[in-house]
Amino acid sequence: MLLFLDSAVSEEIKTLAETGLIDGVTTNPSLVAKSGAPFKDALKAICAAIEGPVSAEAVASDSAGLIAEGRVLAALAANIVVKLPLTVEGLKACRLLAREGVATNVTLCFSPGQALLAAKAGASYVSPFIGRLDDAGQDGVDLIRQIRAIYDAHNFQTRILAASIRHVGHVRDSALAGADCATLPPGIFRALYQHPLTELGLAAFNKDWAATGQSIL
Ligand code: G3P
Repeated sequence: MLLFLDSAVSEEIKTLAETGLIDGVTTNPSLVAKSGAPFKDALKAICAAIEGPVSAEAVASDSAGLIAEGRVLAALAANIVVKLPLTVEGLKACRLLAREGVATNVTLCFSPGQALLAAKAGASYVSPFIGRLDDAGQDGVDLIRQIRAIYDAHNFQTRILAASIRHVGHVRDSALAGADCATLPPGIFRALYQHPLTELGLAAFNKDWAATGQSIL
């Protein structure tokens, strides 16, 4: 399973990429606004720091505008993935950009039917927003499960990118449900490797080792 960072803060992305465990990055207009950085400059810095796919969202309201913006974004770096909304205009733009060889990520997916359309439009990735579904009293992880079943039954190659991840349980459950990738806010990525029993166990091992008076080097 691929792990992406859901962030537009290039410095933080660079720092976490040093783990060697980050496979890509996703951004959205809200994350760009929160970062305070100029969009294209931030994208270039992120694309230079990360070899894998970097999603950049087009914001026009019609397909012609989305296509024009998508072409500009795709020209910024070889690893840009153009993010498009799951609307009829977004799907039209996805179909055309996919035919031009541009990688696409259809975002704001909240139903299996929408995911089916994204796959038919040739999307490279579809982004089900599982946290927002949970917030609305529905089951976000079950959506991943249903999309997996549809894509496998009909041999669609679109990758399922679990998004709107709120906690480490979402990462575990998305992996179990068959998501190909998950995009994590930086705090959730850090929380993945932290466990109080690891800390306690390490402190005990270090104490016992010190008592032996030995050295490995
Ligand atoms: O990048 C899309 C998605 O991950 C947004 O998450 O937390 O705003 O629902 P959130």
